[in-house]
Amino acid sequence: MSGLPDLPGSPGIPDLPGLAGRIARSLGDSLTVAELYGPVGGPIYHELTAGDTNEVRDVLALLRGTQEQVLELACGSGRLTLPLLAAGHQVTGVDTSRSLLSQLRGRLSEPSAQRLAQRLTLVEADMCALDLPQRFAAALLGTTTIGLVPPAARPGFFRTVREHLEPGGLFVLSAHTPSAEDDGPSVRPVTTPHAVNFVIDEAEPLHAQRRVAILRIPAQGGPVLLTSTVHVPSPDTLAEELQDAGFGLDEVRTARPTAGAPSELSILVARSTR
Ligand SMILES: C[S@@+](CC[C@H](N)C(=O)[O-])C[C@H]1O[C@@H](n2cnc3c(N)ncnc32)[C@H](O)[C@@H]1O
Repeated sequence: MSGLPDLPGSPGIPDLPGLAGRIARSLGDSLTVAELYGPVGGPIYHELTAGDTNEVRDVLALLRGTQEQVLELACGSGRLTLPLLAAGHQVTGVDTSRSLLSQLRGRLSEPSAQRLAQRLTLVEADMCALDLPQRFAAALLGTTTIGLVPPAARPGFFRTVREHLEPGGLFVLSAHTPSAEDDGPSVRPVTTPHAVNFVIDEAEPLHAQRRVAILRIPAQGGPVLLTSTVHVPSPDTLAEELQDAGFGLDEVRTARPTAGAPSELSILVARSTR
């Protein structure tokens, strides 16, 4: 795919850089380009990730004993929320994506899920500007979603999380573990019942960020390219910023691998010191 010609952009196709941009320009007007977590991307993101059990066991083990309210930041369509509810937690889930929150509501609308739904409160809001009246025993930001917070906004975001915790409250967050394989672009095919999807991951080393795109070729209809930019702060940087924001760091652990695959996740366990 890297041999694609660098064609000029077509009207309606944003000027994307890198391999994803070359694919977009080659496919031209037949392609729909959309944000990964928006109305077009949300259902596709959900389909691709709903069965992913990465970090679930670690999160459940770390939050065991916290039966009070857990604040789940960026809960999305509930990949981590449903196991938390099933483990007996009361969860307040926050996300900006109306599309993913509606997927989560749909998953809990079956009569058999009523017991779980009763323990869940959903809030459509920006977690960086959160202002809820409750204080929580624990907060969770999984799925390396800290990478979606711009670096300049992280210190304020961490203070906001601390302000939502009870004194001594726990903050569990996962981060990408840097590795030598981060340098080159990678393209990973994922087949789903009605489409083949290619996850295109490209580094922008000077900016310490990655461009992640999903090219979906459905059995019916035109191709779709979903885009997202992810910052990649190291666990050490995050640990320092957490301490500056009023957290003590209990531990940094590597998430348990799933299905024999090596883990790419670090889990930071911090505690509010105020
Ligand atoms: C990588 S997904 C993870 C979703 C879910 N935790 C999971 O494991 O499937 C990132 C989520 O962060 C949400 N998000 C991104 N920026 C956000 C913000 N500033 N405030 C709240 N949610 C945000 C997106 O809508 C998306 O649901």
